[in-house]
Amino acid sequence: MTPPILRRLTDLRALTSEWHQNGEVVGVVPTMGALHQGHLSLAQAARADCDRVIVTIFVNPRQFNNPEDLAKYPRTEIEDAEKLAPYGVDAIYVPDPDQIYPEGFSTTVTVSGLTDVMEGPFRPGHFEGVATVVAKLFLQTRADRAYFGEKDYQQLLVVRRMARDLDIQIEVIGCPTIREPSGLAMSSRNLMLSREGLNIAAKKSGIMRALAAELANGQAFAPLAQKAKAELIDAGFTEVEYIDLRCADSLEELPRASRPARLFITAWADGVRLIDNIPVTPV
Ligand code: PAF
Repeated sequence: MTPPILRRLTDLRALTSEWHQNGEVVGVVPTMGALHQGHLSLAQAARADCDRVIVTIFVNPRQFNNPEDLAKYPRTEIEDAEKLAPYGVDAIYVPDPDQIYPEGFSTTVTVSGLTDVMEGPFRPGHFEGVATVVAKLFLQTRADRAYFGEKDYQQLLVVRRMARDLDIQIEVIGCPTIREPSGLAMSSRNLMLSREGLNIAAKKSGIMRALAAELANGQAFAPLAQKAKAELIDAGFTEVEYIDLRCADSLEELPRASRPARLFITAWADGVRLIDNIPVTPV
C-alpha cells in the first residue's frame, strides 16, 4: 500500500504526537524526491531501526544557487510514493511551500567552517538552504533519528553539526552510498544524463577507487590528484571542479592519508555536475 501523503504541518503533528505519546521511536528520511535505490536504502535503514518512519519530499528552492538547476530538478511524486510502498513507511510528508517558508520567513541557519570548502565556494548559499530546511524538517517531524546518504558527505557533516549546535535532539545517521553496477553513485541527477553521459559518468568511480588505493598506501596526494584529473578529462568529463583529500571528521585538507580520510571528486559530464566520495583508510 502506498503510504499516506501529508501536506500540512498540523496533520503531521497530529500523527507524530500520537506516536510520541505511545513512546515510539520516529525516524525521518529527508529527500527532494526523484527517489532511487539510494533513498530507498535510507528508508530501509530507518524501518529496521525505528518504530515509525517518515519520508519527506520537498524540492527546496533555497539550496539551489542556479535557477536553471532548480527548474530542471525532476519532480516525480506519484512514482516516489509507489516506490516507497514496499518499505513500510508510515507517512510521506510533502509540505506545501508555505508550510516550510510561510510569508515573511526570515531566518537562515548558517554552519561555518565545514561549509567553507568543497561544495561551499562552488555553490554559494547552498548549505544555508540545506541547514535551514533540514532544521525545519527536524523540528516539524520531531524525529528521533534522521538518515542521510554518505554520497553527500559534506552535507551529512553539516547537518550533524547543525543539530548538535542547535541542541536538536536527533541522531543523524550516515548510510553508505548505493552504486549502479557500473560503480556510478546513485543520484537523482543521473536522470539528466544521456546514454553517452552515463557511460562517461560511470568511469569516475574506477578512477576514484584507483586513486584511493594509492593514497591508502601512504603516497602523496598532489601528484596523484593531477594524474586522476587528466584521466577524468580523457574519459570525457568536461570539467573537474575539485579533487580533495580531507580528514573524515573535520574536512581539514590532508597532504597524504595519514589518518581516516575521505577522497572527494566533483566533475561535470554531459552538462551535469556529479559529486562522489569514498573513504581512504591508511594501511
Ligand atoms: O540531500 C537532499 O536531498 C537535500 O539536500 C535535503 C537533505 C533533502 C535537504 O533539502
